[in-house]
Amino acid sequence: MSLKRALVFLLTFTFSQIVIDTEGKCLLPPPSANFTLTGYYGLWYEAGKIQTAGGAIFEKDCVCTTIQVEPKKAGKPGDSSALNSCRKSSPSGKYLNATGQLTTMNPPGKWKEGFFVAVPKVDYTVIYLDKDFAVEYDCSDFLGLYTNYCIHIMARVSNPDPAKIQALLKFAEGLGLNVDKLPFKTTMQKGCW
Ligand SMILES: *[C@@H]1O[C@H](CO)[C@@H](O)[C@H](O)[C@H]1NC(C)=O
Ligand SMILES: *[C@@H]1O[C@H](CO)[C@@H](O)[C@H](O)[C@H]1NC(C)=O
Repeated sequence: MSLKRALVFLLTFTFSQIVIDTEGKCLLPPPSANFTLTGYYGLWYEAGKIQTAGGAIFEKDCVCTTIQVEPKKAGKPGDSSALNSCRKSSPSGKYLNATGQLTTMNPPGKWKEGFFVAVPKVDYTVIYLDKDFAVEYDCSDFLGLYTNYCIHIMARVSNPDPAKIQALLKFAEGLGLNVDKLPFKTTMQKGCW
């Protein structure tokens, strides 16, 4: 291939990626009007989630899942960390922990989350918050070729009211976030605590 043809090819390829990228399936729901950093910080028990198959592989066999959200000691105001902790397959399974870095908060309740340097950051939005419950939506479009999203429903206790979980699920579905119509999976928390 001549240099000119190679360049044309490269430019065409790059351009088409950008065009496709704008057609990703990630949505941009607003953060909860209730959102405050102090209201979100602390320990959450994952009640359940909706997740695409390509999402966070380390969460695949998780039971007893918790998320501990804390301010970062260094960094810009709002920069936080989210320790995702769970046990592999059973309450006595080994810990599978991964810390996500929540950065570039804008507006409050919406961050970029990154786990590993090489992996693209995802959009991370707290779409519901009250003193007992939180719902978080994260999503990434990989070059517009495929979209991974996850809707986490979290509670301050490990055995939340199932009716409330259903109501929150309905709320999230009502925002149209579950574009692939995936099933909700309850997170096993029995025998963990
Ligand atoms: C994983 O996180 C949990 C909860 O914070 C902690 O108790 C545990 O020691 C951590 N384990 C490892 C191996 O990092
Ligand atoms: C805000 O929190 C209250 C209870 O603390 C709850 O009833 C209300 O639905 C929440 N509103 C939003 C927009 O999340």
